[in-house]
Amino acid sequence: MPKVFVTRKVAQAGIDKLSGAGYEVEINPQDKVLSKEELIYYLREGKYDAVFCLLTDKIDKEVFEAAGPQCKIFGNMAVGFDNIDVPSAKEKKIMVTNTPGVLTDTVAEHTFALILSIARRISEGDRFARAGKYHGWEPMMLLGADISKKTLGIVGLGRIGSRVAHHAAKGFEMNVLYYDVKRNEEFEKESGAKFCATVEEVLKNADFVSIHVPLMPETQHLINAERLKMMKKTAYLVNTSRGPIVDEKALAEALKAGVIRGAAIDVFEHEPAIEPELLKLENVIMTPHIASATEETRAKMAELAADNIIAALSGQKPPNLLI
Ligand code: GLV
Repeated sequence: MPKVFVTRKVAQAGIDKLSGAGYEVEINPQDKVLSKEELIYYLREGKYDAVFCLLTDKIDKEVFEAAGPQCKIFGNMAVGFDNIDVPSAKEKKIMVTNTPGVLTDTVAEHTFALILSIARRISEGDRFARAGKYHGWEPMMLLGADISKKTLGIVGLGRIGSRVAHHAAKGFEMNVLYYDVKRNEEFEKESGAKFCATVEEVLKNADFVSIHVPLMPETQHLINAERLKMMKKTAYLVNTSRGPIVDEKALAEALKAGVIRGAAIDVFEHEPAIEPELLKLENVIMTPHIASATEETRAKMAELAADNIIAALSGQKPPNLLI
């Protein structure tokens, strides 16, 4: 009976699929992220035919070596796969898959929740009310910024970026600018979005900048001190992609110095650590990497990761094969 190792407890729907396919499923008994050494310990002696892994698992050559030659696939339960050394997987002839599509709406919704929250000072207002500071309506209290008809700049018009752009254009009548390595004229026609040939053009003209690029060597610190300075002083930065795309220290400095008005981020440069300076600021909203965290979506992600594993172990091409 093929054996699958699951690196941490996930939605039961995914586990049920694997068991339903007749596999023996072993789940990391400790509900915590496994260190690389621990993961290697669990996978040693090539005990498993497949590994169901998460974005918090760092999967590199040594991990593939520990998994051994009978391990056919690492099914990552995330759309991002920067945690996996894909060239090493290729070298070892191990398949790697991700879970795109099923989380698009959920992440786009969270991005909008962040845009609304930072512009309308929702967390700040909540803290204010809980601290017993509300003594009556005031004409100048907690003034935020409008969203409707403003300009949203999208950096990375993939599945999630284009969904955020769609909500902005259709729901809030925003002007949408976008930068992507690939122009999408069809989307421009549908949504009225305008293509910018450079990231800088987006940064200079947007009231809200939302980041939706994958983490790669080319996108690390794409948003740095210099680029933050190109943004309008009244603009907000939103990041639901990957933390290292933004230089977190530079962001804290920019927020402190009033270079930009605010930021709303779901991801951090050195997760789970958060730049201490950010914690002191009122003009930043932080959520703990939960943009895809709804019951429905996490179940679908677990099921899709399981489907990829089942396909690989049945000799078929997994639907979301990366290599
Ligand atoms: C979440 O961050 C994902 O990549 O799915």
